Amino acid sequence: MMNEEADFEARGLAMTTPHPLGERIVKAEGCWLETDQGERLFDLVSGIGVSSLGHGNPHIAKALHDQIDKHLHVMVYGEYAQEPQDRAAQALLGPLRPYGLDAVYFVNSGTEAIEGAMKLVRRATGRQQIFGLTGGYHGGTTGALSLSTPSHRRNAFLPLMPQVEHLPFGEMEALQQITCRTAAVFAETVQGDAGIRALPSAFFKALRQRCDEVGALLVLDEIQCGLGRTGHRHAFEASGIVPDVLVLGKALGGGMPMGAFVSGKAHMASLREHPKLGHITTFGGHPMACAACAAFLQELEKVDLGAVQAQGTQWKAALESHPAVVEVRGTGHFLGVDLDGPDRVGDLVAAARKRGLILFWFLSRPQGFRIAPPLTAGKSELDAALAQLLEALDEVGG
Ligand SMILES: Cc1ncc(COP(=O)(O)O)c(C=O)c1O
Repeated sequence: MMNEEADFEARGLAMTTPHPLGERIVKAEGCWLETDQGERLFDLVSGIGVSSLGHGNPHIAKALHDQIDKHLHVMVYGEYAQEPQDRAAQALLGPLRPYGLDAVYFVNSGTEAIEGAMKLVRRATGRQQIFGLTGGYHGGTTGALSLSTPSHRRNAFLPLMPQVEHLPFGEMEALQQITCRTAAVFAETVQGDAGIRALPSAFFKALRQRCDEVGALLVLDEIQCGLGRTGHRHAFEASGIVPDVLVLGKALGGGMPMGAFVSGKAHMASLREHPKLGHITTFGGHPMACAACAAFLQELEKVDLGAVQAQGTQWKAALESHPAVVEVRGTGHFLGVDLDGPDRVGDLVAAARKRGLILFWFLSRPQGFRIAPPLTAGKSELDAALAQLLEALDEVGG
């Protein structure tokens, strides 16, 4: 029988799955969530890639308090000059300008940023065809879902957007399907919900090259893998390949709802005229979200990304040597671990929960689970969490 907290429907709330985790969280600080029963849970998934600086970061909290005393929403996006937007844009674009990415459009979520980017690439190229890659997940609205796979997640909602197709992940020959009719290819630099799967280096290079040959744009979705999670500020920096459009979200708002798409100014200008207001949003660039974003980006500067990488290497080695583990993928605080089947993963999530660890599944890799703790997690708390995870793996066996 479903526990009371998991029965959202009884409380009048929509449900997205028949079996939600159903924790009731009353407080969150650093890597720790506190339940109404006074139990402390270690957040090994950062609320699915959002709380990258841990929960309740004091600088983000202060920025929010300061802003709430000044003003909340004052106008739809793009009409009034708003100081928090300027600060967020400067902090975000500083490290991206050297790549020619010098214009940002702030929106309300990762999904909306993908939708905006899909419109941008069509306007900027005058072409209609868009490709995603198999295994990609880009969001739940009609356009973003068109780009996403697997097909069983899409089929219930057909017809989706025309002229949106999929290239098989990692298959070199398939790149020939990108032609001078193609507006853009959308790819996650590291696929998140496919189980943490980086674009293979040779394929990534060939993809960039093919896009250049035919004048198609390369859009990298770093909504989940960006902003330090892989141990690089931007995941694409590990490859030396630069996108035409970069899409961000999740951690970007420091816990506030926010997304962004970033491109060169010339491309971004295509949303300004013919038609004017090519993308419009009431709440995009909200002063609270932008204040939190600017504070988040300042704090991110202080994170030792080398240590994040080293931590990932240590966890990977420890997990790989456990007999219940079939495979570990990823870098930094962005790891995907496979067991020998979905049932074993379900047992592990329960065994970890008994020990006060929060783990979570992937959308499209049922035999895997994710590890994505806050980037600010301390060494001793991570060591303790790893020891408990290994104990939970002992319990479920393999
Ligand atoms: C890679 C990627 N793109 C897009 C999205 C959609 O973002 P949001 O749920 O914030 O709209 C997600 C969400 O999980 C994601 O992981």
